[in-house]
Amino acid sequence: MSSFKQSVDREFTKAVKYDFRYRVFGRDDLLPMWVADMDLPAPKALQEAIIERAKHNLYGYTTYDHHTLNAIKQWIEKRHQYAIDTNLISFSPGVIPSLHALVQSFTEEDDQIVIQPPVYPPFFSVIKNHNRTVVENPLVQKNHRYEINFEQLEQQFKNGAKAFILCSPHNPVGRVWTIGELNRIAELCIKYKVLLFSDEIHSDIIFRPNKHTPIASLNEEISQLTFTLMAPSKTFNVAGLQGSYVINPNQEAKKQFEKQLGNQGLGILNTFAYTAIEATYQYGEKWLEKLITQLEENRDILIKSLNNSDTQIKPITPEGTYLIWLDFSETSYTHKEIVDKLKDEAKVGLNDGVTFGKDTGRLFMRINIACPPSIVEEGVKRIIETFER
Ligand SMILES: Cc1ncc(COP(=O)(O)O)c(C=O)c1O
Repeated sequence: MSSFKQSVDREFTKAVKYDFRYRVFGRDDLLPMWVADMDLPAPKALQEAIIERAKHNLYGYTTYDHHTLNAIKQWIEKRHQYAIDTNLISFSPGVIPSLHALVQSFTEEDDQIVIQPPVYPPFFSVIKNHNRTVVENPLVQKNHRYEINFEQLEQQFKNGAKAFILCSPHNPVGRVWTIGELNRIAELCIKYKVLLFSDEIHSDIIFRPNKHTPIASLNEEISQLTFTLMAPSKTFNVAGLQGSYVINPNQEAKKQFEKQLGNQGLGILNTFAYTAIEATYQYGEKWLEKLITQLEENRDILIKSLNNSDTQIKPITPEGTYLIWLDFSETSYTHKEIVDKLKDEAKVGLNDGVTFGKDTGRLFMRINIACPPSIVEEGVKRIIETFER
């Protein structure tokens, strides 16, 4: 089994996280702890399955079969205790392409779509780029933990919101929504007939004792309003293979969604994406358990080091995902000073908080801890030295 302790050289492998550093940060000598992929090798069984498929030496148009569907069904049943109907699955190269297609298929120009910043930046553009209206229901921070403002959410639904894009678990604040919270969301969606696009791409990376619940699994009524978006990409570090899927609420919706995907030329995946879905879901579970243990160790390194420092940087403890939201609001610096100090003094590449929400992300940054623990230690050491200065 792969070791998560050793660092792997990814420079000049066309990895966005490394080879785009100059373009994004204006320098290429910083420790990249930004883009949400892992500096950790994928499961060996996946590599072997890809090599095996590559040996066939024919790479024509490829589709899925019952092996692909069953691999997904069994994975979701085992990991999330959710029995899905494989007839409702659609495939798409990515969760973001699917969100674009969902917005185009099921909402109309000027429709209001609710999102909860700070949130994954493309959530804004999948709404704006199709001339729909972004309605923000910012998450509320209470004792260094984020919660949903349900009163405002209900008001926004009452005011006519057409759809809600839920990030579950939530990138960047690391919340794994509880059954209680999900039930409240579901009740509101049902009451006001709001469509739910539930981005569950991070649902397999959950820290103990938290548990992910697919919101569509709560009851039949909410499943009829929900499109669940999942993928092995974050879980097994296979984002570059571009394979994801959507569990549609019913056949009619599936047909409409697939028509839109087809119109955009997104109706078919690359050959290796199907191999990735099958191999990771069939053979990757032990690897994933080991990964989660490593990520928990990395999380603890980062949180303890920052909490024991004099930097006044407050990490938000994640319940899932390998991304940690860092609160700089108690330091004495402006947002620009924070961004510049991290880049030019600490020389670590983090995601700028304001890209997740102009107001909610000011004085915040996001760090990616999916790397060997020695790299987390090095990154945190650089940050602490810079901000204690
Ligand atoms: C919440 C969330 N959704 C979607 C994506 C990207 O999905 P994809 O690459 O499948 O489009 C990410 C990547 O970081 C993410 O964090």
